Amino acid sequence: MDNFEQYILSHTDAEPDYLKKVNRATHLRMMNPRMLSGHFQGRVLTMFCKMIQPKFVLELGTFTGYSALCMAEALDDDGILHTIECDDELEDFIIQNFKGSEHGHKIKLHIGNALTEIVKLDEIFDLVFIDADKREYLAYYEAVLPKLRSGGFIFADNTLWDGKVLKPVEQNDRQTIEIKLFNYFVAADMRVEKVMLPLRDGLTVIRKK
Ligand SMILES: C[S@@+](CC[C@H](N)C(=O)[O-])C[C@H]1O[C@@H](n2cnc3c(N)ncnc32)[C@H](O)[C@@H]1O
Repeated sequence: MDNFEQYILSHTDAEPDYLKKVNRATHLRMMNPRMLSGHFQGRVLTMFCKMIQPKFVLELGTFTGYSALCMAEALDDDGILHTIECDDELEDFIIQNFKGSEHGHKIKLHIGNALTEIVKLDEIFDLVFIDADKREYLAYYEAVLPKLRSGGFIFADNTLWDGKVLKPVEQNDRQTIEIKLFNYFVAADMRVEKVMLPLRDGLTVIRKK
Protein backbone atom coordinates (compact mmCIF):
# COMPACT_ATOMS: atom_id res chain seq x y z
CA MET A 1 0.00 0.00 0.00
CA ASP A 2 1.48 3.40 -0.95
CA ASN A 3 1.52 6.51 1.28
CA PHE A 4 -1.43 8.05 -0.51
CA GLU A 5 -3.63 4.99 0.10
CA GLN A 6 -2.45 4.80 3.70
CA TYR A 7 -3.37 8.46 4.24
CA ILE A 8 -6.85 7.89 2.77
CA LEU A 9 -7.46 4.82 4.94
CA SER A 10 -6.26 6.54 8.10
CA HIS A 11 -8.85 9.28 7.50
CA THR A 12 -11.66 6.84 6.72
CA ASP A 13 -13.68 4.77 9.22
CA ALA A 14 -11.89 1.62 10.33
CA GLU A 15 -12.95 -1.66 8.77
CA PRO A 16 -15.46 -3.23 11.20
CA ASP A 17 -13.99 -6.23 13.07
CA TYR A 18 -16.34 -8.73 11.50
CA LEU A 19 -15.50 -7.56 7.97
CA LYS A 20 -11.80 -7.79 8.83
CA LYS A 21 -12.42 -11.47 9.56
CA VAL A 22 -14.27 -12.02 6.27
CA ASN A 23 -11.49 -10.18 4.44
CA ARG A 24 -8.79 -12.30 6.11
CA ALA A 25 -10.67 -15.57 5.56
CA THR A 26 -11.13 -14.65 1.89
CA HIS A 27 -7.39 -14.07 1.53
CA LEU A 28 -6.65 -17.40 3.20
CA ARG A 29 -9.16 -19.49 1.27
CA MET A 30 -9.62 -17.95 -2.16
CA MET A 31 -7.34 -18.06 -5.20
CA ASN A 32 -8.27 -14.53 -6.27
CA PRO A 33 -8.93 -12.51 -3.09
CA ARG A 34 -8.39 -9.21 -4.93
CA MET A 35 -11.94 -9.53 -6.26
CA LEU A 36 -13.25 -8.55 -2.83
CA SER A 37 -14.19 -4.85 -2.46
CA GLY A 38 -12.00 -4.39 0.63
CA HIS A 39 -11.76 -1.81 3.38
CA PHE A 40 -11.89 1.44 1.38
CA GLN A 41 -14.47 0.53 -1.27
CA GLY A 42 -16.49 -1.27 1.40
CA ARG A 43 -16.73 1.90 3.47
CA VAL A 44 -17.68 3.85 0.34
CA LEU A 45 -20.50 1.39 -0.39
CA THR A 46 -21.77 1.64 3.18
CA MET A 47 -21.65 5.45 3.09
CA PHE A 48 -23.38 5.64 -0.32
CA CYS A 49 -26.11 3.31 0.96
CA LYS A 50 -26.58 5.49 4.02
CA MET A 51 -27.00 8.47 1.67
CA ILE A 52 -29.45 6.72 -0.67
CA GLN A 53 -31.33 4.87 2.10
CA PRO A 54 -32.49 2.03 -0.17
CA LYS A 55 -35.01 -0.57 0.92
CA PHE A 56 -34.49 -3.04 -1.92
CA VAL A 57 -30.95 -3.67 -3.13
CA LEU A 58 -29.69 -6.09 -5.78
CA GLU A 59 -26.09 -7.20 -6.13
CA LEU A 60 -24.70 -9.15 -9.09
CA GLY A 61 -21.53 -11.02 -8.08
CA THR A 62 -21.42 -11.99 -4.39
CA PHE A 63 -17.95 -13.62 -4.26
CA THR A 64 -17.46 -14.15 -0.48
CA GLY A 65 -20.15 -11.68 0.59
CA TYR A 66 -17.99 -8.74 1.63
CA SER A 67 -19.68 -5.98 -0.41
CA ALA A 68 -23.13 -7.43 0.37
CA LEU A 69 -22.36 -7.14 4.09
CA CYS A 70 -21.12 -3.55 3.64
CA MET A 71 -24.38 -2.53 1.94
CA ALA A 72 -26.59 -4.54 4.31
CA GLU A 73 -24.95 -2.65 7.21
CA ALA A 74 -26.68 0.50 5.94
CA LEU A 75 -30.13 -1.09 5.51
CA ASP A 76 -32.95 -0.75 8.01
CA ASP A 77 -34.18 -4.00 9.53
CA ASP A 78 -36.99 -4.28 6.96
CA GLY A 79 -34.59 -3.72 4.06
CA ILE A 80 -33.53 -6.61 1.84
CA LEU A 81 -30.49 -7.18 -0.32
CA HIS A 82 -30.65 -9.88 -2.99
CA THR A 83 -27.24 -11.05 -4.13
CA ILE A 84 -26.56 -13.41 -7.04
CA GLU A 85 -23.48 -15.63 -7.38
CA CYS A 86 -22.93 -18.23 -10.11
CA ASP A 87 -20.15 -20.20 -8.38
CA ASP A 88 -21.92 -22.82 -6.27
CA GLU A 89 -18.62 -23.82 -4.65
CA LEU A 90 -18.72 -20.49 -2.82
CA GLU A 91 -22.18 -21.10 -1.37
CA ASP A 92 -21.21 -22.60 2.01
CA PHE A 93 -18.54 -19.97 2.64
CA ILE A 94 -20.91 -17.12 1.74
CA ILE A 95 -23.68 -18.51 3.99
CA GLN A 96 -21.20 -18.86 6.84
CA ASN A 97 -20.09 -15.24 6.36
CA PHE A 98 -23.69 -13.97 6.33
CA LYS A 99 -24.74 -16.09 9.33
CA GLY A 100 -21.92 -14.69 11.48
CA SER A 101 -22.91 -11.08 10.81
CA GLU A 102 -25.51 -9.05 12.66
CA HIS A 103 -26.63 -7.82 9.20
CA GLY A 104 -26.77 -11.21 7.49
CA HIS A 105 -30.52 -11.60 8.05
CA LYS A 106 -31.15 -8.76 5.58
CA ILE A 107 -29.41 -10.65 2.76
CA LYS A 108 -30.93 -13.25 0.43
CA LEU A 109 -28.41 -15.28 -1.58
CA HIS A 110 -29.31 -16.68 -5.00
CA ILE A 111 -26.94 -19.20 -6.54
CA GLY A 112 -27.15 -19.11 -10.33
CA ASN A 113 -26.37 -17.07 -13.39
CA ALA A 114 -27.20 -13.39 -12.81
CA LEU A 115 -29.06 -13.04 -16.11
CA THR A 116 -31.40 -15.94 -15.39
CA GLU A 117 -31.86 -15.12 -11.70
CA ILE A 118 -32.68 -11.41 -12.25
CA VAL A 119 -35.85 -12.22 -14.18
CA LYS A 120 -37.15 -14.32 -11.26
CA LEU A 121 -37.06 -11.35 -8.87
CA ASP A 122 -40.30 -9.38 -8.43
CA GLU A 123 -38.93 -6.39 -6.51
CA ILE A 124 -38.45 -2.91 -7.90
CA PHE A 125 -34.98 -1.96 -6.68
CA ASP A 126 -33.67 1.29 -5.22
CA LEU A 127 -30.04 0.32 -5.82
CA VAL A 128 -28.21 -2.25 -7.95
CA PHE A 129 -24.51 -3.07 -7.60
CA ILE A 130 -23.10 -4.64 -10.78
CA ASP A 131 -19.91 -6.59 -10.00
CA ALA A 132 -20.16 -9.96 -11.81
CA ASP A 133 -18.84 -11.05 -15.24
CA LYS A 134 -17.27 -8.05 -17.03
CA ARG A 135 -18.25 -9.57 -20.39
CA GLU A 136 -21.95 -9.25 -19.49
CA TYR A 137 -22.11 -5.71 -18.09
CA LEU A 138 -24.29 -4.34 -20.88
CA ALA A 139 -26.67 -7.30 -20.63
CA TYR A 140 -26.89 -6.84 -16.83
CA TYR A 141 -27.56 -3.14 -17.31
CA GLU A 142 -30.45 -3.73 -19.71
CA ALA A 143 -31.81 -6.50 -17.47
CA VAL A 144 -31.81 -4.41 -14.29
CA LEU A 145 -32.88 -1.03 -15.67
CA PRO A 146 -36.59 -1.99 -15.95
CA LYS A 147 -36.39 -3.31 -12.37
CA LEU A 148 -34.94 -0.07 -11.02
CA ARG A 149 -37.27 2.64 -9.77
CA SER A 150 -37.05 6.14 -11.30
CA GLY A 151 -34.50 7.97 -9.18
CA GLY A 152 -32.85 4.66 -8.27
CA PHE A 153 -29.10 4.05 -8.63
CA ILE A 154 -26.79 1.54 -10.28
CA PHE A 155 -23.17 1.25 -9.17
CA ALA A 156 -21.02 -0.47 -11.79
CA ASP A 157 -17.65 -1.64 -10.49
CA ASN A 158 -14.32 -2.01 -12.34
CA THR A 159 -15.23 0.43 -15.11
CA LEU A 160 -11.57 1.55 -15.45
CA TRP A 161 -10.51 -2.12 -15.62
CA ASP A 162 -6.97 -1.61 -14.39
CA GLY A 163 -6.43 1.23 -16.89
CA LYS A 164 -6.96 -1.12 -19.83
CA VAL A 165 -9.84 1.03 -21.09
CA LEU A 166 -7.22 3.61 -22.21
CA LYS A 167 -4.89 1.21 -23.99
CA PRO A 168 -5.11 -0.52 -27.38
CA VAL A 169 -7.25 -3.62 -26.87
CA GLU A 170 -6.24 -7.15 -27.89
CA GLN A 171 -8.83 -8.75 -30.19
CA ASN A 172 -9.31 -11.67 -27.78
CA ASP A 173 -9.61 -9.55 -24.60
CA ARG A 174 -13.39 -9.78 -24.32
CA GLN A 175 -13.51 -8.32 -20.81
CA THR A 176 -11.86 -5.05 -21.82
CA ILE A 177 -13.85 -4.88 -25.06
CA GLU A 178 -17.14 -5.32 -23.17
CA ILE A 179 -16.26 -2.90 -20.35
CA LYS A 180 -15.37 -0.24 -22.96
CA LEU A 181 -18.62 -0.92 -24.79
CA PHE A 182 -20.56 -0.62 -21.53
CA ASN A 183 -18.85 2.67 -20.64
CA TYR A 184 -19.51 4.06 -24.15
CA PHE A 185 -23.15 2.98 -24.07
CA VAL A 186 -23.91 4.34 -20.58
CA ALA A 187 -22.19 7.67 -21.34
CA ALA A 188 -24.59 8.18 -24.28
CA ASP A 189 -27.71 6.74 -22.62
CA MET A 190 -30.27 9.52 -22.15
CA ARG A 191 -32.39 7.40 -19.78
CA VAL A 192 -29.84 7.92 -17.04
CA GLU A 193 -27.51 10.44 -15.39
CA LYS A 194 -24.02 9.17 -14.71
CA VAL A 195 -20.66 9.97 -13.15
CA MET A 196 -17.56 7.80 -13.36
CA LEU A 197 -15.57 7.92 -10.12
CA PRO A 198 -11.83 7.13 -10.16
CA LEU A 199 -12.33 5.04 -7.06
CA ARG A 200 -10.18 1.91 -6.82
CA ASP A 201 -10.76 0.22 -10.22
CA GLY A 202 -13.41 2.72 -11.32
CA LEU A 203 -16.97 2.93 -10.01
CA THR A 204 -19.65 4.39 -12.28
CA VAL A 205 -22.65 5.80 -10.44
CA ILE A 206 -25.75 5.81 -12.63
CA ARG A 207 -29.14 7.36 -11.74
CA LYS A 208 -32.29 6.39 -13.61
CA LYS A 209 -34.25 9.50 -14.65
C1 LIG B 1 -15.49 -9.23 -8.44
S1 LIG B 1 -16.26 -10.62 -7.73
C2 LIG B 1 -17.50 -9.88 -6.70
C3 LIG B 1 -16.89 -9.21 -5.48
C4 LIG B 1 -17.88 -8.79 -4.44
N1 LIG B 1 -18.98 -8.03 -5.00
C5 LIG B 1 -17.17 -7.93 -3.43
O1 LIG B 1 -17.02 -6.73 -3.70
O2 LIG B 1 -16.73 -8.45 -2.38
C6 LIG B 1 -17.25 -11.22 -9.05
C7 LIG B 1 -18.11 -12.43 -8.71
O3 LIG B 1 -19.09 -12.55 -9.74
C8 LIG B 1 -19.30 -13.92 -9.95
N2 LIG B 1 -19.90 -14.07 -11.28
C9 LIG B 1 -19.26 -14.08 -12.48
N3 LIG B 1 -20.14 -14.26 -13.48
C10 LIG B 1 -21.36 -14.35 -12.91
C11 LIG B 1 -22.66 -14.54 -13.40
N4 LIG B 1 -22.88 -14.67 -14.70
N5 LIG B 1 -23.69 -14.59 -12.53
C12 LIG B 1 -23.47 -14.46 -11.19
N6 LIG B 1 -22.26 -14.28 -10.66
C13 LIG B 1 -21.21 -14.24 -11.50
C14 LIG B 1 -17.94 -14.55 -9.79
O4 LIG B 1 -18.04 -15.94 -9.53
C15 LIG B 1 -17.34 -13.75 -8.65
O5 LIG B 1 -17.56 -14.38 -7.42
